[in-house]
Amino acid sequence: MMQGGQTRYWLAITACLLAADTRAAPPSGEQLYDIACLSCHSLGDAVDHRVGPPLGGLLNRKAAAVKDYRYSEALSASGWNWTLPTLLAWLLEPNTAIPNNAMNYVNPLTAEETQRLGEWLLQQP
Ligand code: HEC
Repeated sequence: MMQGGQTRYWLAITACLLAADTRAAPPSGEQLYDIACLSCHSLGDAVDHRVGPPLGGLLNRKAAAVKDYRYSEALSASGWNWTLPTLLAWLLEPNTAIPNNAMNYVNPLTAEETQRLGEWLLQQP
C-alpha cells in the first residue's frame, strides 16, 4: 500500500510531466481545427449535415461561394475573399468584421492559436 506522502509525490511528478509535455508541443493547427471548428465545418467542398459550409480550398475563395449552402445576406454581400488577414479578422471579431453574419461563434482560441489554425486551414484542399 502507498503511503499518503508517496501518493502526493507521484502526483506531483505526473503533474510536472504533463506541464512539460504541454510546453513542448502546443496544439497543431489541425488539432485546433478539431477543437474549435469541426463540429460546424467539414473540409473538402461537399455540403453535409453540419451547420456551417465546408472549408476545403478556402485560400483565395470568394466568401459565400459554396453552391447549395444557404449563407446569410451579410456574408453573401460582403465581397470578401479568404486570405490569412481576412480569415483572422473574421475569426477574431466575426461581428465587427461582417455585421449580421450567421456564424454564431465565440472564438475560444488565443490570437496566436487562431493564426496557427488559419495558416493550417488555408493549406487544406
Ligand atoms: C457553431 C457553428 C460554427 C463554428 C463552431 C464555426 N463556424 Fe464558421 N461558420 C458557421 C456558419 C453558420 C457560417 C455561415 C455564416 C453566414 O452565412 O453568415 C460560417 C462561415 C464560416 C466561413 C465563411 C465560409 C465561406 O464559404 O465564405 C469561414 C471561413 C468560417 N466559418 C471559418 C470557421 C473556422 C476556421 C472556425 C473554427 C475556428 C469556425 N468557422 C467555427 C458556423 C460555425
